[in-house]
Amino acid sequence: MTTDAVALTQDVQSHYAQLKAQLAEHAHRYYVLDEPNIPDTQYDLLYQALEKLEAQFPQLISLDSPTQRVGGAVLDTFRSVEHGQAMLSIRTETDTTPQGAVSFDERMRKELSLDDSQAPIDYVAELKFDGLAMNLTYFEGVLVRAATRGDGLFGEEVTQNIRTIRQIPLKLKAQGTLAVPEWLEVRGEVYMSRADFEALNERQRLKIAQGLKNEKTFVNPRNAAAGAVRQLDSKIASQRPLSFFAYGVGVVVNHLVNLSSSQLNAPKPQVSGQTALLPDWTTPKVTQSSQALLSLGIKDHFSLLQTLKAWGFPVADQACVVQGAQGLVGFHQSMGLAREHLPFDIDGIVYKVNRLDWQMRLGFVTREPRWAVAHKYPAQEQLTTVLDIDVQVGRTGKLTPVAKLKPVFVGGVTVTNATLHNELEATRKDVRIGDTVIVRRAGDVIPEVVGVVVGERSAQSLPFKMPMHCPVCGSLAVKEVLEADHRCSGGLFCSAQRKQAIWHFASKRAMDIEDLGEKLIDQLVDTKSIQSVADLYRLDLSALVSLERMAQKSASNVLASIEGSKKTTLARFLYALGIRHVGESTAKDLAIHFGDLARIVLATQEELLQVNDVGPVVAQSLRTFFAQTHHMELIEQLQALGVHWPKMQAQSDTSLPLQGHTYVITGTLTNFARDDAKAALESLGAKVAGSVSKKTTAVIAGTEAGSKLDKAIALEVKVLDEDAFVALLQAHGTKGF
Ligand code: IVH
Repeated sequence: MTTDAVALTQDVQSHYAQLKAQLAEHAHRYYVLDEPNIPDTQYDLLYQALEKLEAQFPQLISLDSPTQRVGGAVLDTFRSVEHGQAMLSIRTETDTTPQGAVSFDERMRKELSLDDSQAPIDYVAELKFDGLAMNLTYFEGVLVRAATRGDGLFGEEVTQNIRTIRQIPLKLKAQGTLAVPEWLEVRGEVYMSRADFEALNERQRLKIAQGLKNEKTFVNPRNAAAGAVRQLDSKIASQRPLSFFAYGVGVVVNHLVNLSSSQLNAPKPQVSGQTALLPDWTTPKVTQSSQALLSLGIKDHFSLLQTLKAWGFPVADQACVVQGAQGLVGFHQSMGLAREHLPFDIDGIVYKVNRLDWQMRLGFVTREPRWAVAHKYPAQEQLTTVLDIDVQVGRTGKLTPVAKLKPVFVGGVTVTNATLHNELEATRKDVRIGDTVIVRRAGDVIPEVVGVVVGERSAQSLPFKMPMHCPVCGSLAVKEVLEADHRCSGGLFCSAQRKQAIWHFASKRAMDIEDLGEKLIDQLVDTKSIQSVADLYRLDLSALVSLERMAQKSASNVLASIEGSKKTTLARFLYALGIRHVGESTAKDLAIHFGDLARIVLATQEELLQVNDVGPVVAQSLRTFFAQTHHMELIEQLQALGVHWPKMQAQSDTSLPLQGHTYVITGTLTNFARDDAKAALESLGAKVAGSVSKKTTAVIAGTEAGSKLDKAIALEVKVLDEDAFVALLQAHGTKGF
């Protein structure tokens, strides 16, 4: 005691305070602003210096020290604590159309007695984060308590877990004229970013694979965040990557404290045995904070958000002031589009009347403020039941288990199927017939089953097993070592594979047989009218009209589009063959490189490897394909039946004339389909891009060219009309497409 007392000089104390301040500043830059200005190693050195000082003088350790973030305490239960100001809920507008925003604005104008001649109301539009509400209490600028919302009046104290969130300041920043209130409750949302969620689940899967009991994966970021916040063991909570956004305040009591001038001593944790006990703070009960906010110079909600930011909290950049119903609708729509690209989940928008005096005038109805509303987006997740698990056969024979669902409206569409990808995925998710499952559909992403509500599972249910045989043709289902997929071994004997192969052959980016739909292909194969893609070119009117629901007129349309497909390009033809691993762009690269089908067929592995993006797997797949006589026979038959493409010069022979040039095509060309114009340019070695930049060689502008043409003019990029384009092609010996 005495030695410490002697050594713990004023100097040591101020050195300690300085280290804490530096570390806090760097953590803020790193975790909140995302703009660190020192390397991690330097941060570590500062941190170690602080640790050393604390080891030497444990009496220095204060609640705002970064060493207090690591967690350690294991609780039996969470303490129930009373919020200084009730945590209100918010009225939810369930009408997800723009009308939801319009009715809110109408209500506000009426309540505020504004007539049509008066200016639109200023609102703050904010994202509605999909996490859990948190109340952070700061006493004299230091975080002393964090509590969940609970019933709105009392919540659970989760301070130890919340301290581990690096984005949450342990001490408010107070710089220059910015002071901090004596008591402050900051309200916001604890959430988990999508990337952190994915990474966490990956780690969890690894633990499960290693046989660790009691580990599980989480169904969505919200559940993962809620689980972490309610961890009794704060060490575990500290390993769950949580984030925070502040969006409001509760209690504000203003005996203003200027932290930079008053060498405030932060409260100390009381350590007893293993558990660090925090004092049970009693926040003053305050029902109204606008007066206190006014004395801080805060007159509206947007300035409050700016102040929260200045105190060191993360505030979402998207929050902004908008005018009237129109502003609200615009924000709701643009965020609706941006939603799937945000790094975190949101489930709607929150609109708040900006002016605090108006908020006061509007007041509350029961436990909801009148001045705010949550305007939801269509839910991206819903519960439904698995009616069955089907196994579908793909073009290459891949067997895919698909959950047949009780129809459910999610992410704006009705979903009846969700792929389970393969046996491993199906087993990992352990989806069973009869299960209640969470289905997710975000943006344009295909719907997926994210998890099972295991509690509702019937005791009789059995785990899914991949069948040993193809459900369509009965051939053996095989799974190669190191491959995740089972495949039907029936090849083109399997009618499912045949149908898929024909469908792929006819698809838009392949042979583009427009009138040949999936249903018609099913019928043609089922009635044995066709066996292979070559048979398409042998179809006649009588064969087609004999099919169910096929009138003379549509039959001739089908024949005409089959006829039209005969004139194609080498790249399309190659892609249409459906060679494994040969997608559209590889097919193009091969066509450009070799110029001629015969040369591709005869190419050695080494020659194939010369092609852009062709690796050993693709090369092997090409060689295997062409080594099979029935494939070569099919190609010959197709050519004999009239399928043809223009001759091209191989890039490997000479360097192509337009190599290194980039073109952009815009508007409608009269003599070319867009794809053909593109193919013509590519056959000359040019690249065809989707947007204009300074590097663009020229823009080819058809009729009704729009913004791309404007941009070309603005950037002074050369513009070619269709005639000039034809001349360009002719100059290089390319004509008929
Ligand atoms: S304001 C008095 N703003 O949505 C107004 N809430 O009841 C209090 N939420 O669970 C809420 N994002 O945690 C507000 N930008 C935001 C929000 C938000 C998410 C949550 C909140 C609560 C629910 C609203």
